[in-house]
Amino acid sequence: MVMEYRSGDRVVIDDILSDNIYTRVVIDIQEQKVYPEVAFLNVKDRKRILITGGAGFVGSHLVDRLMMEGHEVTVVDNFFTGRKRNVEHWIGHENFELLNHDVINPLFIEVDQVYHLASPASPPNYMYNPVKTIKTNTIGTNNMLGLTKRVRGRLLLASTSEVYGDPEIHPQNEDYWGHVNPIGPRACYDEGKRVAETMCYAYHRQDGTEIRVARIFNTFGPRMHLNDGRVVSNFILQSLQDKPITIYGEGKQTRSFQYVSDLVDGLIRLMNSNYSMPVNIGNPDEYTIGDFAKIIKGLVGGNSKIVKKPPMTDDPRKRKPDITRAKNILGWSPKVQLEVGLNRTIEYFKNELRRTTLDGRHFTKLPGGA
Ligand SMILES: NC(=O)c1ccc[n+]([C@@H]2O[C@H](COP(=O)([O-])OP(=O)(O)OC[C@H]3O[C@@H](n4cnc5c(N)ncnc54)[C@H](O)[C@@H]3O)[C@@H](O)[C@H]2O)c1
Repeated sequence: MVMEYRSGDRVVIDDILSDNIYTRVVIDIQEQKVYPEVAFLNVKDRKRILITGGAGFVGSHLVDRLMMEGHEVTVVDNFFTGRKRNVEHWIGHENFELLNHDVINPLFIEVDQVYHLASPASPPNYMYNPVKTIKTNTIGTNNMLGLTKRVRGRLLLASTSEVYGDPEIHPQNEDYWGHVNPIGPRACYDEGKRVAETMCYAYHRQDGTEIRVARIFNTFGPRMHLNDGRVVSNFILQSLQDKPITIYGEGKQTRSFQYVSDLVDGLIRLMNSNYSMPVNIGNPDEYTIGDFAKIIKGLVGGNSKIVKKPPMTDDPRKRKPDITRAKNILGWSPKVQLEVGLNRTIEYFKNELRRTTLDGRHFTKLPGGA
């Protein structure tokens, strides 16, 4: 007789070995988890890759790409802004490991490559605990560089366009040293990343540690935080909820926005290149914040009004990457059109809003920023 069991069933099998000895096996029937199909790589090509901050917005997309390529991926995250849900579709996969670990503590594992992304990234998140932000970017980066040196691997630092501060040249190329207020409210992040870059080059010069430095410009896409107070999330959320779209200052400040899959592509190319100087990864299409608000309002529809609020402290007036280096050295340039990326993100936010309306714990209001 063939028995059929469903998820949630419990099967008990007693096997009598002799008169007074028997074994009992209890099996809880659970649904078999189905994973996305990953490529097969032989041992020579398969890399052991650590992604710090891999449960966050950018990190989780990087995880997806590297898993699909057939690598072994370990995510280290303290879940400050990241979520298990971003990577839960890989949990249990033989090529995947998730460690709840804070990078300000040393870590000893064997890997070939480290993508070091662990750091809060949006102004409300990094200003929430500025001391912790500095520690994460300095002590955390030192720990990851130490690990990379020990295993003779390669580390890619997720740096930021914020190292240019409120720039005096436009667009910003990698030779520009920046214009950062070292004691302002954003300094914990801006200076933290600048020190992180300095550390990379100190390890490189002193010990020959292989490093790659990506200066990432504003990025958006699904899995970005609903409540992180960044331009894209703020505007989409406000439009979807028919609330006023808030612009800080006159709306003449400019930003350029890249879609997350373009960034992931750039990061992987940079990691696997033989170039160790910093590389800007961003989309040079530039919009004033005022125009950007109108574009999002147009795509979402609805009746939101655009309203102006006082400017944020140290908010950069202009931001646009010069990506000549990425083009020449990595053969990289962004591919995804703004509207295509925005529509995907709007769809994601609609679903998230539906979910968070059912579960209010996930949604708290934070002040805005770019
Ligand atoms: N998204 C952007 O527009 C952008 C722009 C420039 C630079 N970056 C950089 O890219 C990286 C990823 O940004 P994101 O947008 O995905 O942000 P995110 O907040 O979604 O991801 C950061 C991840 O790091 C984790 N983390 C923070 N502190 C940690 C610690 N001490 N130990 C372990 N994990 C820790 C968080 O829990 C989260 O999962 C960051 O380093 C950020 O500075 C992002």
